[in-house]
Amino acid sequence: MSLETILHSALDAITKAENLQALDEVRVTYFGKKGQISGLMAELGKLDPDARKARGAEINKVRTAVMSALEAKKNALEEAELNRQLMTETVDVTQAGRNSDVGTLHPITRTMMRIHEFFASVGFDIVEGPEIESDFYNFEALNIPEHHPARAMFDTFYFDEHMLLRTHTSNTQIHVMQEEKPPIQMIGYGRVYRSDSDVTHSPMFHQVEGLVVNKNVTFANLKGILTEFMQQFFEKDLKLRFRPSFFPFTEPSAEVDIECVICSGDGCRVCKNTGWLEVLGCGMVHPNVLKSVNIDPEEFQGYAFGMGVERLAMLRYSVNDLRLFYENDMNFLTQFR
Ligand code: DAH
Repeated sequence: MSLETILHSALDAITKAENLQALDEVRVTYFGKKGQISGLMAELGKLDPDARKARGAEINKVRTAVMSALEAKKNALEEAELNRQLMTETVDVTQAGRNSDVGTLHPITRTMMRIHEFFASVGFDIVEGPEIESDFYNFEALNIPEHHPARAMFDTFYFDEHMLLRTHTSNTQIHVMQEEKPPIQMIGYGRVYRSDSDVTHSPMFHQVEGLVVNKNVTFANLKGILTEFMQQFFEKDLKLRFRPSFFPFTEPSAEVDIECVICSGDGCRVCKNTGWLEVLGCGMVHPNVLKSVNIDPEEFQGYAFGMGVERLAMLRYSVNDLRLFYENDMNFLTQFR
């Protein structure tokens, strides 16, 4: 076989090799132990020195040409392989991951934050207060002495004679008034406990308490702040109704109804056809409460109010069963995204 033929068939085979394995087979065909070009080299020994030199140079040319073609093709195939890998194995870091569910705030937390936001914006301090409480803070200092019939308003969980789970956030009023001098403007909030359970009552629920103590505080101030709050909370120009009521820690006391947020006062199932919804208790701080924390009721007055967070959340989000808030049912909770 002529050198020319070998050269052309080798270059042709190299061009046709589609992958590294095929290319290596070509290499073996020409440069392996029994390869065609290796064979030519072996035969050189049989020639006399002059012929050997000339023939050697010719073979070498072919050898070099085929080797460099092999090398070039090998580089090209390796690069193609690398590009293929980059194309198929790339990670698109901009793609959204799988199973990337985002958590949500609990509707009670959201409602609480919404309440805090309003009162913080008008200058109230936000205070949590203890849930495990003594009889003094939960009752006595709030003008509810032992054996007072008003204790029956609260189905209290007692640890022993003196310690209990707070039945309302009003305990926080006493802590704050003990620690700070008027002027006081505070919101107490958190969990409260009562031995009571049905569609509208849970043994643990949440309250928000407000207290303002200063000189010249009036019932008109109380009406103003509560009206402003309710209208902002429900994003509606609601009417409020203050009904005379009784709480041992306030005098005078009132319960506040808002115009039904479902039917706007026309009467519906939620407001039991009255057009009104009871949402909180309030009043002017009783002089005995101020005295219990050494604030002179002749010099200072205060107003206070307390409301149930679940009640407000149920009305705002149209939830008709209180227990839904505590069941951790994802179908319920994910609606509050
Ligand atoms: N503590 C009362 C309750 O749990 C609510 C309340 C009523 C709080 C009147 C007050 C208030 O501060 O002035 O039912």
